[in-house]
Amino acid sequence: MSSFSLLSSTIPSTKNTKISFSRSPKTLSHNRFKVSCNANTATDDDNKQKASQSLEINQQNNNVDRRNVLVGLGGLYGAANLSSIPSAFAVPIQAPDNISLCVNAHAGIGNMTDAVKGVACCPPVPASDPVTGDAIAPPLYQLPPRPTTLRTRPTAQAAANDPVYLAKFMKAVKLMKALPDDDPRSWNNQGKIHCAYCNAGYTQEKSGFDTVNMQVHNSWLFFPFHRWYLYFLERIMGSLLGDDTFALPYWNWDNTDAMTGFPTAYELSMPSDTGGRPSPKNNPLFDGFRDATHVTATVDLQGGFVGTDEAMKNNNLAVVHDQMSVVGIAPFFGGLLSAGPRPTTMPGGSIEAGVHTRIHIWTGNPRMPNNEDMGNFYSAGYDPLFYCHHANVDRMWYLWKTVLNGGNNIDPTTSECGVDNPDPGCQLAGDWENSSFVFYDENKNLVRVKSGDCVDIEVMGYTYADSDISPWLNYSSTPHAAGSNIAADSIGKVKKVDELKFPLSIAETVKFLVKRPAVNRSHKEKKGTREILMINGIEFDGSAGFKFDVLIDDVDDGTPINASDSEFAGTFEQLQHGVGGSMKMTTGAMFGITGLLEELKADGDEYILVTIVPNYGCEKVTIGDVKIELLKIRR
Ligand code: C2O
Repeated sequence: MSSFSLLSSTIPSTKNTKISFSRSPKTLSHNRFKVSCNANTATDDDNKQKASQSLEINQQNNNVDRRNVLVGLGGLYGAANLSSIPSAFAVPIQAPDNISLCVNAHAGIGNMTDAVKGVACCPPVPASDPVTGDAIAPPLYQLPPRPTTLRTRPTAQAAANDPVYLAKFMKAVKLMKALPDDDPRSWNNQGKIHCAYCNAGYTQEKSGFDTVNMQVHNSWLFFPFHRWYLYFLERIMGSLLGDDTFALPYWNWDNTDAMTGFPTAYELSMPSDTGGRPSPKNNPLFDGFRDATHVTATVDLQGGFVGTDEAMKNNNLAVVHDQMSVVGIAPFFGGLLSAGPRPTTMPGGSIEAGVHTRIHIWTGNPRMPNNEDMGNFYSAGYDPLFYCHHANVDRMWYLWKTVLNGGNNIDPTTSECGVDNPDPGCQLAGDWENSSFVFYDENKNLVRVKSGDCVDIEVMGYTYADSDISPWLNYSSTPHAAGSNIAADSIGKVKKVDELKFPLSIAETVKFLVKRPAVNRSHKEKKGTREILMINGIEFDGSAGFKFDVLIDDVDDGTPINASDSEFAGTFEQLQHGVGGSMKMTTGAMFGITGLLEELKADGDEYILVTIVPNYGCEKVTIGDVKIELLKIRR
């Protein structure tokens, strides 16, 4: 179990490990963020439960007496841990069989009247057993045989330029919007799915924890849940169109050609059915709750970047490169979450916490009370752009697996992990592959799907049309001041971590020295074990957002450091959580520094100089601990 200790912190972030083939970038841009309902929201509830020791454990599905185990582990839950529970006792998270147990959204929602999209997020309930009157458990979904023609998801730009495709796509959305409320395929019901799985509609009662909420963000459930979500939406559209090759478009914000504004099809003005002045309101892909100032603006994937559009696009490539270059299961997928209470520091993976959250925030309307629609998880699923954005997020997972790291990245399945794989994600692989969700399929049948059944998109019947990835794939960051020796020169002037008083405020820029566990490790060692900077116990008030950047060995000569500079370890950004109210929350951050230190020619240094630069909202934010650990990822 020693391998878990490293993970003891939390959030992975962005800049994690760099990939061997590229040695470049360092940047990782910010990472983490959460749109308002994330894991931390659920955590808030969970924490209350922990505090009151009121865990009620429903044993019926378990083999182990978890009650004893959990009571004895009180201290462990308080600590920052990447995994939620020791593997010997783990149980996968499963959505309930009886979806009539779903309740209105509440986690993170303090002021109901502010929730303009409403908190009724539960799906229509299927017919119960005619004889017993009991709910019928949804059967495990079997993928249809792989079709001869894969559904090929086009880029949003290609979609906009193809009138035949576009007309079909718009028709599908329109048909869904016209379906009645008791039809689970309706647009409204599809949008609710996100809210139900994010804002505490369901509990983990099927896994034995009827007081712990389901949460599909900020952990390794993120990728599989959203893949299945889009899978069924796409099939519903195809079935309404009578076209089983229909595929959703993807917003390739990782391509410089697509970094300007929202994809055009989603903002087009159209005449109404009866003619008249064209308006976006007649476009089924339009959503009035978007940031109107971004319709033609350049996307800022770092957040807070200052510079020309050209420079911003270039910097965006660095951001994507860094977030895609992480290796190891937890840094990419997010914290290893099993059933039960969630540690307060459970992190999201690099893409989730990074570009994924950034685009949500960038798209949502900041003038709405809760950044509706895309800027808040409870409302995001109602915007057609959600699915276009998430198709690209899904594609990032596909690329990470098939292209990045020389094809050596693995999913957390027992078969891909093999025996004795040291990656902590492999030790809990069974809990990832057996985690499951329930969805309605295109025939209105409720089915249960497993994460382990969605690892191969072609087996699922779809793929992605090409979009050039070479600019970010081959991106190289440049050091601002390599070989500066700044850490050694700062000894005596800047405090070392063990001389600091924690909790440490980050209201102002703070600098400190952190000792490294090892220096000048061999190439082989670095391939198997990555060096990670952990910032643990980040405490904040969830009712306000904040963002800070982390720089390594910055010489502080007045030049701003961005993702395209080697010194930029990453960003941590937190969106306002929930809807009204105030809540104390804790999280953590994790930054890979292996490649960055090589670029800075600082790999022989005993200490690194860490600078935490608050961007906004950090007045009351504190951190609890900082350290560097070595994360094993392979032998
Ligand atoms: Cu479920 Cu983009 O979030």
